[in-house]
Formats: sequence, C-alpha cells, structure tokens
Amino acid sequence: EFNLALLAAATVSKTAFAQPIRENPQLLLDTEHYKHQQVTVDGQVIQVRAFEGIPYVARPVEPEYQVLNLYIPETYFQGGRIGSFDARSAPIFFPNAVGGYMPAKPGTLAGRGFPPGPPGGQRAQQHNPPPSLPPGALPPPPMGTNTVSASAVALARGFIVAAPGARGRTLQASDGRWTGKAPAAIVDLKAAVRWLRYNAGRFPGNPERIISNGTSAGGALSALLGASGNHPDYEAELNKLGAAPGRDDIFAVSAYCPITNLAHADEAYEWQFEGLREYRNVAISMLDYKIQRQEVVGQLSDAQLQLSAQLRAAFVDYVNALSLRSPEGGTLSLQADGHGPLRDHIAGLLLDSARKAQAGGTDLGQPAWLQLRDDKVVAVDFSAYARSVGRMKSQPAFDGLALETGENQLFGDANTDKRHFTAFSAQHSKVSGAGLADPQTVKAMDAMQQIADARSVVAQRWRIRQGTMDRDTSLAVPTLLAAAARQRGAQVNLEFAWNRPHSGDYDLEALFAWIQAQVS
Ligand code: DHB
Repeated sequence: EFNLALLAAATVSKTAFAQPIRENPQLLLDTEHYKHQQVTVDGQVIQVRAFEGIPYVARPVEPEYQVLNLYIPETYFQGGRIGSFDARSAPIFFPNAVGGYMPAKPGTLAGRGFPPGPPGGQRAQQHNPPPSLPPGALPPPPMGTNTVSASAVALARGFIVAAPGARGRTLQASDGRWTGKAPAAIVDLKAAVRWLRYNAGRFPGNPERIISNGTSAGGALSALLGASGNHPDYEAELNKLGAAPGRDDIFAVSAYCPITNLAHADEAYEWQFEGLREYRNVAISMLDYKIQRQEVVGQLSDAQLQLSAQLRAAFVDYVNALSLRSPEGGTLSLQADGHGPLRDHIAGLLLDSARKAQAGGTDLGQPAWLQLRDDKVVAVDFSAYARSVGRMKSQPAFDGLALETGENQLFGDANTDKRHFTAFSAQHSKVSGAGLADPQTVKAMDAMQQIADARSVVAQRWRIRQGTMDRDTSLAVPTLLAAAARQRGAQVNLEFAWNRPHSGDYDLEALFAWIQAQVS
C-alpha cells in the first residue's frame, strides 16, 4: 500500500519551500474519496483513481469552475512503477481546457472526437477545426473516432494528470457582477498549481515536475503560467480566493498556438497581412478553437488600411525595442518596411516545417509561397505565404474598435462586460464612453510581459507549436514568445506544424517524447 507518511516526509524535505504550512483541511485532498476509471491507449488498459471536481480554493467565486480533476494510475498506490517513474517521481501533466478565453470545466479522460457531451468537461477535448480551412490545411479528424486524449496518453506513460477548470470572460454572478474577467483564468491556474504543492505527499506525483498544456487561449494561459511563476502581482487575488500558500512556478510549458501578447497582437497581425484587403471574420462567440466556426467574408476599407499601416509601423518599433535574439544569436529586428531579421527568421521556421514534413514523407503540393528545386524546398516567400493563408480577422484583429471581439470581453471588469485594452483602439474607438483596461491587468494576462519581468520565476523548458495554416494570430507571436523565454535562460523548442490549422494536441507522440526527455 502506498506509504503517505513516507512520501510526505521525502517530498517536503526535497522542496525548497520549507516554511511551515498552516494546514487548511478544506484544501487537503480526501484520498479515500475517488472513483475507479480505466483508459485504453494502444490496447494497453490503465486503471486509475479519479478524484473529480476537487475545489482548489477555499473561497471559490465560481465553484463549478474552480475545481480540478485528478487522475492517478492505480499502480502507484501499490508501490508499482510505470516506465522509469514511481509514486514519488511521476511528473504531473497539467492540461487546461480553456478555449476562446471562455470558462472551462476541468478536462476528463474522454477521447478527442467524441460526439459533443455536456458543455464543459466532455467537450473540452474536442477539436473541431473551422469549416472553411485554408487551402491545403489538414482535414479534421472524423467525429466519433475516439482518438485518445492527451491526458489518456499521459497516464499510459506514467504521468499523474491534474486537469484544472478556470473562470472565463462570460461568467456573471447573480448580482450581475462579472466574475471571470482578466486575470481570473490565470489566477485560477496558479491556485490549482499551489493546491498540488500544498498536497504534496498526500497522493503520488512530483509537484516539482508540473508540465502545463493548452491550446489557443489555453495555450496562452499555459505559457503565462510558465512565464509568471510566483509573481507577487497575483498574490492579493489568490489570497482573496483562499488559495493555498506557496509557490506556483512550474517545470515546463507546452503551448499550442498561444493567443498571447494581446497588447501587441493587433500590430503583429497587420505586419503579417500587410496590404491584404479581404478577411474571413469569425463571429465572436465562435472564437473558441473547439467549436465549429462560422465565417463572414469582408473587405477592409481604405480607412482601415490606413490604420493597418499605423499598426504595422508600431510593430516595427515594438520589435526593435525588445532586442530579442534568434537561437543563432542575431538580433530579431525589423526595418521600417517590415522586412529584416525577424521576418527572415519566421520564413526560416516555415522552411524548416516544409522540410521536416517532406522528410517524413508528406507530399507538400505546390504552395505558391514555397520555392522548390528538384523537389527540394529552397526558399519561402513570406508575403506570398500571408496572401495564401489569408487574413481571418478584421482590423484591429484583437482590440476591436466596436468592442466586438472575445478579447474585448476578456478585458471587462466586475462592472463592465467589454473594454478596450490598447491605447490605439481606445483612441480610435467607435463606442463612446468605452473603457480601457489598465496596463497592469493587461500585463497580468500576458506571457510576453510577465516573462520579461525579473520577479517571475520562468519555466526552463518550453515546447511551442503553431500550425502553418493558423491565421488566428501572427506567426510573430509564438516566435517572439520563444525568443523571450530563451532570453530568460529557458530551453525552447519552437516549430511550425505543417498544414495544421488553429488547433492543438495533434502530435501526442512527439509531445510526450519531448516531455519524457525533459524529465529524465
Ligand atoms: C481563441 C481563438 C482566437 O482567435 C482568439 O482571438 C482567442 C482565443 C481560441 O480558440 O481559444
């Protein structure tokens, strides 16, 4: 039988956080209260203890969301091992189910491709790509194929799975106050991480080996979690919720198509899609990458193209002020015309993606932006790439002038549903009296800003993936994020996944191979 006392002693002495903990029984897991579940991965059946709907704060505001699901391989309670892991060393996979900055129930073990279940958990593993994919993008997995979830794969490989729920932009209390506006979701994820450390030794798993995972808005939150460890700015909110005391830094980040850097994402979008008039907009409630999208084709006006030029110029200034470096050491700067080393670096990542796909036996087709010689990929034309993939969003892409985007709603506050969050859009707003989120709130929600703050403990291992067919944000966003993480000493694995649209968890073999290499 699993020796709790022994494990508790070992874990406490191993962790740097050795302050005496004020025991709060509300925050301790009842280890006797669980259900038996099993998952099958590649024919292998794994028995797990499922602790579902566990509150991770003592004073929740949204008790349905501020909970986590904990799944632990049964063998760890019997002194067993899976691969090289035992009850003490097993890493903790921490997948959030957030999409569209909407509220998210904690994920379950259900496979991707299940027919839609009840809102929240069941649906959380689904990936329904947009109905009109860019030319050449990979088709969606057929419904009902029961592709295994990332969490199931994690368990099969001996990980503990801790799947947190989180508040989101549409939640409202009965008194009308909004309860899930920025930075609620990241505060919740931090509270869940603290809960895991607070409970160290009460159940198997090593809270010094937490690997966060998420897609899109969830990818942004995964990155933000790794970018903002122990930052004091979240302390007041965490205390208000009755979060466990302690550290919330994590070991590693996996982020798919992170919708982050919202303070500069509008600029990055105009930089990438320079001069393109046509866009295929997505209705605000449809932003969530898990939900079928309905697209509206539109044309940017001359006035909008003028604003676009201003945003593009602002992006050049922003990038140059960052002074980030490529892995090869060159400065990722831009010239006034938007060309230069950052653009070349991104084109190089597209080139790498094409070469890797080809080496893996994929027929690249004949994309207009890819120059082939004797069937070998030799060059990428970035302007042709942008034209080919096409712009999906109107302009500004994130801080909408009519407060029409999901991000406008994310940056409301307790009394306001929607606000601006950039000075530029506030200045050009079409809504009289529209509010502007304060810069501290925008920063608290932004991996890019938190990562550069010396008060953050930054995860030292990052894996970032962005599909080459993703038009939800500029390719510059994950690229700059990767460079910023490297600047903080992290080892970063960034790749553009060939022909993938806005989606995640599509390469679980490779994801877990990477994670295994980090923890062993
Ligand atoms: C998501 C997609 C977006 O385009 C966006 O702006 C925010 C979130 C998402 O799929 O989570």
